[in-house]
Amino acid sequence: METVVSGIRSTGNLHLGNYFGAIKNFLKMQHEHRCFFFIADYHSLTTHPHPKDLHQNVKQVLVEYLACGIDPEVATIYIQSDLPETAELYLLLNMNAYIGELERCTSFKDKIRQHTDNVNAGLLTYPVLMAADILIHRATKVPVGKDQEQHLEMTRQFGNRFNRIYESEYFPEPYAFNFGTELVKIPGLDGSGKMGKSNGEGNAVFLSDSPEVIRKKVMKAVTDAGPTELNQQKPEAVENLFTLMKVVSKPETVAFFDEQFNTMKIRYGDLKKQLAEDMVTFTFPLREKIIDLSKNNDFINKVVKQGAEKARESAQKTVREVRELIGFKHFG
Ligand code: TRP
Repeated sequence: METVVSGIRSTGNLHLGNYFGAIKNFLKMQHEHRCFFFIADYHSLTTHPHPKDLHQNVKQVLVEYLACGIDPEVATIYIQSDLPETAELYLLLNMNAYIGELERCTSFKDKIRQHTDNVNAGLLTYPVLMAADILIHRATKVPVGKDQEQHLEMTRQFGNRFNRIYESEYFPEPYAFNFGTELVKIPGLDGSGKMGKSNGEGNAVFLSDSPEVIRKKVMKAVTDAGPTELNQQKPEAVENLFTLMKVVSKPETVAFFDEQFNTMKIRYGDLKKQLAEDMVTFTFPLREKIIDLSKNNDFINKVVKQGAEKARESAQKTVREVRELIGFKHFG
């Protein structure tokens, strides 16, 4: 059975981008593979969350994972910081990660442009920590969105480099995995780029958003003045709404609005109303489950404890073997 690892940073509520970019694949994979899904709280520290928020952020993502249908009896769900082994492997991998390659990483370049006042070493070595997350279970498949491909390439690079240096074939090569034909990128509502919480209020639709909030966000989505030629290419903002529609609406609905666009009869207000209703229909049962599960602390505590135990067993084995390959030996 192949080993699967994926994580989501605990920097806010899960949104439709997380669901369709990652979680949907987790749900399918959990029954066929040895799966580890974790909440990346170490990673969330790059942006210095307030100590009084950290725990709640982690709990929220955990509850949302469970509400989506990740089954803790089948997959191993754990909190990244419950595995100090990950931090150790990160330290060891850092010795063979070069500043030049880390500085060339696109996500690092984006981050330093976004917050020039907080260019910390954690941001620079983010890909090394991510590699540690994956290599700690010697995973081969990583269900992630398209934006993570470069990080995976770096993970393979670090694993292969380790193998070369220590003349072993210890780490297998992990690859991004998606059940669709290609990795999906879920756009946001602001007309450009992907759905994400860092792109401003209103860009992302959260699984826990109430129907009223969803309607408001969608009605405010960016569009343009409308098509001026038959069958013209859709501008990016409009194309984005169609992409969102493709994931939450019925194919007939998408085909209907596509036809309306191509014949220049489209009214964006109608398209948005339909999109909002289909998003509400999709998220409503998830929201109910999120609310229910949030109250069930006994269950949550049990899931976390059991997950940490299972994940540590796998992680401890790797760190033990890695230390041996590097040449650490016990005295006495
Ligand atoms: N970098 C990922 C993201 O931003 C989160 C992540 C951290 C991750 N470690 C991972 C994903 C390991 C997959 C495997 O979405």
